[in-house]
Amino acid sequence: MYPFRKGSFAPRNAWYVVAFGHEIGRALLGRTVINTPLAIYRKEDGGLAALDGRCPHRHFPLAKSCLEGDVVRCGYHGFAFGSDGQCVDIPSQAHAPRAFRVATYPIVEHGLWAWVWVGDADKADPALLPSLAEIGLVGEGLTGHPLFFHQVACRYQLLNDNLFDLSHLAFLHGTSIGTLENATPPEELSKRPGFVSSMRRIRNAPVPPVMHRLGVYPTETIDRAMGMESYLPGFHAGITEVAYPASHPQSPGEPISRNRVYHAITPATPRTCYYHFAVAVDETADVERMRASLGPVIDEDIFASVEIEKMIDLYDGDPPPELMVKGDRKPVEGRRMLQTMMAAEECPSTSVARSRPTANG
Ligand code: FES
Ligand SMILES: [Fe+2]
Repeated sequence: MYPFRKGSFAPRNAWYVVAFGHEIGRALLGRTVINTPLAIYRKEDGGLAALDGRCPHRHFPLAKSCLEGDVVRCGYHGFAFGSDGQCVDIPSQAHAPRAFRVATYPIVEHGLWAWVWVGDADKADPALLPSLAEIGLVGEGLTGHPLFFHQVACRYQLLNDNLFDLSHLAFLHGTSIGTLENATPPEELSKRPGFVSSMRRIRNAPVPPVMHRLGVYPTETIDRAMGMESYLPGFHAGITEVAYPASHPQSPGEPISRNRVYHAITPATPRTCYYHFAVAVDETADVERMRASLGPVIDEDIFASVEIEKMIDLYDGDPPPELMVKGDRKPVEGRRMLQTMMAAEECPSTSVARSRPTANG
């Protein structure tokens, strides 16, 4: 399906953010990842469990059921399943056959997030998760803060495409965090298997409108280095470094601020996805001010992506070919890598090397 080949939707053999860690407690949480319904909870020992969310008796959602200790009891006829998926009780009969069970899925807590793997369980290697040191959550003196969770009515790749091409800041976010200079400097790209990143260095440009209104920077023009590191299939770690411009009379080139943002995009169904957004900042940052100023920015991205989904629907999901320009190198590369990951699953003999972080902070 667009923008991939017919029949290609999302790689299954991958870690996806399914929730922020703090969202998972002693109440069942229902999420869907690549059409796989899940019932997620925190066990009494603090570990996480992810059970298939469809009761195998009459398909009732297990996430809308009850937790008894670490056992999920279906809210329809009361079948009970342990955290290993085994059926342990059927109220209407004396014995629960050993063969009655629900699937379970690997789930790990890493950084601010819980990550689930709905593909082949024997391939679920935690070493494939983004390194916390590499994304700046460890070792840089920054603290992570989950800010937003959205369920979005568009295919996940539209939000990936949004994050692959940050020239949109100049226009979609032109009244908030963007200025024209977000689209004009050349983009530096780097890649390795399963990973592609971009960086733009913006010199002596006006302070973006929202920061100007809030008086965030004590100067009229700034230098900005803005990068986005995309860990496929759907985790994007952004970095922004702000400095006084070289022409500043008192503090030429001096750093002003530095922050990280994290966008986790997870395919739920072919035309819906989840969006978890977080930041990492130092102790001088005003997190609540960031929440207030970045909320409308994320809403603008969601607005654009949902509108594009509606547009695609007018063409029965098969829109005319797109115009491609020099600035589309990252979207082209990212889509190509994703298609290769999906092709490897359709044809397992094709081996695809995946990005392995050097350290897992
Ligand atoms: S549907 Fe779950 S016990 Fe009947
Ligand atoms: Fe955006």
